[in-house]
Amino acid sequence: MDESPKVHGSIFFLLKKYINAKFAAGTWDNLIKLSGATGEYELTHNYPLHEIGSIVAAASQLTGISPHEIQERFGQYLVPDLFKLYGEFLRPEWKTFDVLMFTESVMHGAVRRLNSTANPPVLNVTKVNSKLLIIDYYSQRKMSALAIGIIKGIAKHFGESKLINVKPISDPDAERVQIRVEFF
Ligand code: HEM
Repeated sequence: MDESPKVHGSIFFLLKKYINAKFAAGTWDNLIKLSGATGEYELTHNYPLHEIGSIVAAASQLTGISPHEIQERFGQYLVPDLFKLYGEFLRPEWKTFDVLMFTESVMHGAVRRLNSTANPPVLNVTKVNSKLLIIDYYSQRKMSALAIGIIKGIAKHFGESKLINVKPISDPDAERVQIRVEFF
C-alpha cells in the first residue's frame, strides 16, 4: 500500500474555489500548468500531498504572497464551507472556544467516521484555563499554517476575530506544532 501522505479531494476542491473567488479569472488553470498537478479532483478521493504543495508554491510565485500566508488565507476562507458540510455536528451554543475544544473528538472524529477516504490531522487540545488553549497539531502533511487559518476563520464566523490571538509556539514547518490560542 502507498503510505505517502495524501490530502482529501474536498480540500483540493475548496482550494480551487478559493483561487477562483480571490484571484483573476484563469488563475487556477495557470497554476495547474505551472505546478504540473493533474487539476482533476473528486470529493470522494484523496491525492498526493505534493500536488497541493506544488499548487500553493505556484500560487506563491505568481502572486508574491508566501506559501504560509496563502495556506492561512485559504484556511480562513474554507471555514464556512466546512461548517456547511459538517454543521450538524456543531452545537448551537458553541462559539470559537468550544468548537476548538471539540474539533478533534467531534468534528475530525465525524469526518473520520463518515468519510473513509479523509484522514484529518490529530489535534490534541489542552485547556490551560478559560482564556487559553494549546493545540498540539500533529500531521505528516505539515500544514500548520492552514490550521492557523482555520482557527482564524472559525473566530471570524462567530464574530470573535478581535477576541483571539493565534500563534505557533514551535517550528511551524514541523510535523508536530504547538499552537497557542489566547482569548481576551
Ligand atoms: C470545525 C470543523 C472542522 C471540520 C469539519 C474539519 C474537517 C477537515 C477535513 C475534511 C479535512 C481533510 C482531511 C484529509 O485531507 O484527509 C481536514 C484537514 C485539516 N484540518 Fe480540519 N476540520 C475542522 C476543524 C479544524 C480545526 C479547528 C483545525 C485547526 C486547529 C483543523 C486543521 C486541519 C488541517 C491543518 C488540515 C489539513 C490536513 C493536515 O494538516 O493533515 N481543522 N479537516
